[in-house]
Amino acid sequence: MRSLTIRRPDDWHLHLRDGEMLKGVVGDTSRDFARAIIMPNLVPPVVTTADAIAYKKRIVDAIPAGDRFSPLMTLYLTEGTDADDVEEGKKSGLINAVKLYPAGATTNSHGGVRDFDKVMPVLERMAKIGLPLCVHGEVTTPEVDIFDREAVFIETVLEPLRRRVPELKVTMEHVTTKDGIDYIKSSAGNLAGTLTTHHLIINRNAILVGGIKPHYYCLPVAKRESHRLALRAAAVSGDPRFFLGTDSAPHVDPLKECACGCAGIYTSINTMSCLAHVFEQENALDKLEAFASLNGPAWYGLEPNTETMTLVKRDAPVTFPQKIETGAGPVTVFDPMFPLHWDVER
Ligand code: DOR
Ligand code: ZN
Repeated sequence: MRSLTIRRPDDWHLHLRDGEMLKGVVGDTSRDFARAIIMPNLVPPVVTTADAIAYKKRIVDAIPAGDRFSPLMTLYLTEGTDADDVEEGKKSGLINAVKLYPAGATTNSHGGVRDFDKVMPVLERMAKIGLPLCVHGEVTTPEVDIFDREAVFIETVLEPLRRRVPELKVTMEHVTTKDGIDYIKSSAGNLAGTLTTHHLIINRNAILVGGIKPHYYCLPVAKRESHRLALRAAAVSGDPRFFLGTDSAPHVDPLKECACGCAGIYTSINTMSCLAHVFEQENALDKLEAFASLNGPAWYGLEPNTETMTLVKRDAPVTFPQKIETGAGPVTVFDPMFPLHWDVER
């Protein structure tokens, strides 16, 4: 196959940041994607509906002229989150989900949740009004090995939480393990998972073999090869519970290339080329549309996009910049470590 036309895709997990970084990166998403679920882990985080209204305006103002892109807003769940405010946000059509970061799990998560009892009233309200909870599924307990944090989270936090609020719709974000895939597949409903571009391509060797490679470091950290293969199988299966959330998470190079580098991989600019490559390798180009354009909207109760995107396979590799320049500084682009031939037709 040399050409593939799909409905225009959406990104169901994206970090756009704020200020100069936002201005520098939003165009890489709005060029290819019609909508994206915007993560709220700013400093300070997007906690209230009023915060989300203001942040959405800053995003919309930064979208390059002519691009058609709608940011879908989320709230950052804290132990002080007000259930009435969440409900108003959902009713107004602005808020599409609430994001749960266990305190300390990742970038700007210190304001997240420590005591789940304290957020029960909010979770119960969300279940009642049908608002999904997006979950960063890792425990932060220091005794738990970083490679086991997702599996332990499922067993000790997520499953008990879902038993307490069975009607709550939960999106397990950036699933990185076979344990996560199996858990989603075994659930009776109300559970779905996003998969990132990079976790379909790299395993943990990318970070550590031949020297430490900070631009392959993200959270949840990439796992061993058997997990990557489970993620790929889920992505190309067409199963409506799995869909794209890039977790594209820009940090300027000095904050990654240092003694204590930040977690995050920047994939917005080349995700669709990378995904077409992965799906072709898996003989599943016919499933790319479900993964990138259909399953996500169905889960969030939205219509798929009516516009289309055509991907074409070029003989010569398609090149992307190694870094993009933003007003905040340079951001290194994800290098899949193989040549990309699939190109988005413009
Ligand atoms: O690698 C990551 N980067 N994982 C996250 O969960 C957060 C993100 C960020 O905001 O930088
Ligand atoms: Zn994220």
